Amino acid sequence: MLKLGVNIDHVATVRQARYRGLDDGEPDPVAAALMAEEAGAHGITAHLREDRRHILDRDVRRLRERIRTRLNLEMAIVPEIVEFALGVRPDIVCLVPEHRQEVTTEGGLNVVGNLASIGEACGRFAGGGIEVSLFIDPDPAQIDAAARSGAQFIELHTGAYAAQFARKRERNVEIERLVAAARQAHGLGLRVNAGHGLTVENVPLLHVVPHLEELNIGHTLVSRAVFVGLAQAVREMLAAMAGYPG
Ligand code: PXP
Repeated sequence: MLKLGVNIDHVATVRQARYRGLDDGEPDPVAAALMAEEAGAHGITAHLREDRRHILDRDVRRLRERIRTRLNLEMAIVPEIVEFALGVRPDIVCLVPEHRQEVTTEGGLNVVGNLASIGEACGRFAGGGIEVSLFIDPDPAQIDAAARSGAQFIELHTGAYAAQFARKRERNVEIERLVAAARQAHGLGLRVNAGHGLTVENVPLLHVVPHLEELNIGHTLVSRAVFVGLAQAVREMLAAMAGYPG
């Protein structure tokens, strides 16, 4: 079965729009995580960015204490955040590139160019009993490097697919890239997740991509929650994911 990891970053974005610098505030991303779990989510994802623009350290600690599914902590390889993650012990970390000016994570990690530092981070997390996923573009060289890094998972960046979704020819090119990337990764012993820009509209066509274990989805769920509530938004997404051939 294809699993859903709900990214609750943008619940914290709304809170920070009003309560930045304060010790409390609404909406609470931990309450959202518990509601998402109740509605059937298989895991909770949060990105602790270096600039703390949405999720804060205390959110991650509280998520670790309160959620009953798996905690996936997205992070850049920054010493301070690596230490924090080793202390909090999420079930898995997803290593992502991070640039201060970007609105969201724009591209995949350059594993080819940073294999030594990524390999070192994978070793440290393995020592702490934490699995590692690398957020990468569906690029054969990156997948080869990921297989040599010590990471257990890759998360295929679906942003290009999502951006081309309205253009049939371009969309099919992106689907083919994802299919080839998933096959290559699986053949190299990597486990495969995917995420970024996914919606109830574009998820069904991803059913042709083999070997997927989990989709990490955030923005569309929080957007839809404004109108129908988070539980309903999660259920609609689970329905769009149902029937994945596995
Ligand atoms: N996966 C990763 C690694 C991400 O950085 C993000 C965005 O925070 C997502 C998934 C979720 O993307 P979206 O918010 O577009 O669903």
